[in-house]
Amino acid sequence: MTCTLYFWESKFPPITIKPHQSLAHHLTAENSPVLFGCRTGLCGTCLVEIIGEIPPPTSEEAEVLEILAPENPRCRLACQIDVTQDIIIKTHAV
Ligand code: FES
Repeated sequence: MTCTLYFWESKFPPITIKPHQSLAHHLTAENSPVLFGCRTGLCGTCLVEIIGEIPPPTSEEAEVLEILAPENPRCRLACQIDVTQDIIIKTHAV
């Protein structure tokens, strides 16, 4: 099984990964539009909006999201999400 990552309103081509693989690793290697900083869920550089089903945030990720994007429940930290199926990623200005 694979998961395809699509990039909203971007010419960047979709990327296919295996479920549970690290987005921080794959998207950086592919030079995708998603930027990363700390990769540990603290800095918020990788804030994106996800369209599709992914497991809910951990309490640590939820705390950061409450500060960065309390108004949008679809916002997530790309370095922390666990991808289990196809999703669309909307890059989000911090
Ligand atoms: S890269 Fe810092 S929170 Fe994701």
